[in-house]
Amino acid sequence: MPSTLILGIESSCDETSAAVVRHSASGQAEVLSNVVASQLIHSSYGGVVPELASREHLRAIVPVVRGAMQRAGVAYSDLAAIAVTEGPGLAGALLVGISFAKALAFGADLPLIAVNHLEGHIHAVLMDANTTFADASPLLALVVSGGHTHLYLATRAPERTWRYRNVGKTLDDAAGEAFDKVAKLLGLPYPGGPWIDALAPHGTTDTHLFPLAHIKQKATGNTAPKLSREAVLAPNDDPARFDMSFSGIKTAVRRYVELHHMQPAIAARIEAFRAIGLHQAKPDTTNLARALPHFDSQTLNLIASFQNAVVKNLARSTFHAAEHYGVRGILISGGVSANSELRRSIAATAARHNLPVAFPTIALSTDNAAMIAAAAFPKLFARDFAPGTLEPTPQLRLG
Ligand code: KG4
Ligand code: ZN
Repeated sequence: MPSTLILGIESSCDETSAAVVRHSASGQAEVLSNVVASQLIHSSYGGVVPELASREHLRAIVPVVRGAMQRAGVAYSDLAAIAVTEGPGLAGALLVGISFAKALAFGADLPLIAVNHLEGHIHAVLMDANTTFADASPLLALVVSGGHTHLYLATRAPERTWRYRNVGKTLDDAAGEAFDKVAKLLGLPYPGGPWIDALAPHGTTDTHLFPLAHIKQKATGNTAPKLSREAVLAPNDDPARFDMSFSGIKTAVRRYVELHHMQPAIAARIEAFRAIGLHQAKPDTTNLARALPHFDSQTLNLIASFQNAVVKNLARSTFHAAEHYGVRGILISGGVSANSELRRSIAATAARHNLPVAFPTIALSTDNAAMIAAAAFPKLFARDFAPGTLEPTPQLRLG
């Protein structure tokens, strides 16, 4: 089989992205280009504003796709297909990518492939996980981002395709959403996950601050501390499900802030960040050094303890599910999979269990189009093409 190229387009949330991925004769996927335009405009609002997202996608889509084609050094006539995110995501945001992909496919006489964003995150890892997993199956996939926290049992199916079964999900907030909301509460820029990741090592974790009971079962309404495996089971106590909950810890952080009268310091931090231009910044080394003087040790300890509790909860559910289903390996993906403590903690436990584990590169952890193109290859080989009438499916599920 000669090498095959797919152009992927992703616009489900606040990143406009296009990428060209090559599938070689040996079955290896290679990212030739992966252009991501992040919408900084949402920082001022502390979360994604859907109307603004659509408008920004419209502005960015042409230069982003053109940039991806140029960086890859390919022409439309070199492509085998165009892949686009069908859902889940924001309706208006998805619509921009889908309309553009449909028009391109029509104009260039190429097949169109619809990709589930969640399967895309899984393929961000599978793309170069051959060395980690070889042909092992089933695998357990934790997809953990700003909009999703799911555990999937991923089984190899014929024609290099995969089948997925959802065996756990958050019952309330996604883990990334909890990172972002706690960050906003503490006066940090959006998205807050990377800031919390960068600040946490400067604090000391107090494991008593947020016992796992704070990440309790919302649906059961049970407030009793539950440190056993039962705490991660679904309300119907289905022993084959490993559901999670993150809104309890977010509320616990809010209560801690109120109880310790931290609001004036937070308001001062917001002012200071604005004054020195950090309010829309990413926490690179320089920005982190400029930001640190605006935190007291109590806030840094709170951040470290919060991150530790979320990581412990994710790891606990993942390893309970891995054990229950006797999987041959674990893969972690989605924006939160960029988190340093999550990577360290999961890698250490997996090593103790002698279980292979794989993460995407940091660039492929958060939303990008290379993962959409990568997930489209099995569909291309199975000639599983989307109709010209493809529309967004904002609530699309996987498995
Ligand atoms: O996958 P993604 O780009 O978009 C969704 O599909 O939601 O994930 C974005 C989420 C945000 O909540 C962001 O705060 C979080 O991933 N995130 C992180 C880190 N990098 C991104 N959370 C914790 N630590 C990080 N290093
Ligand atoms: Zn995502």
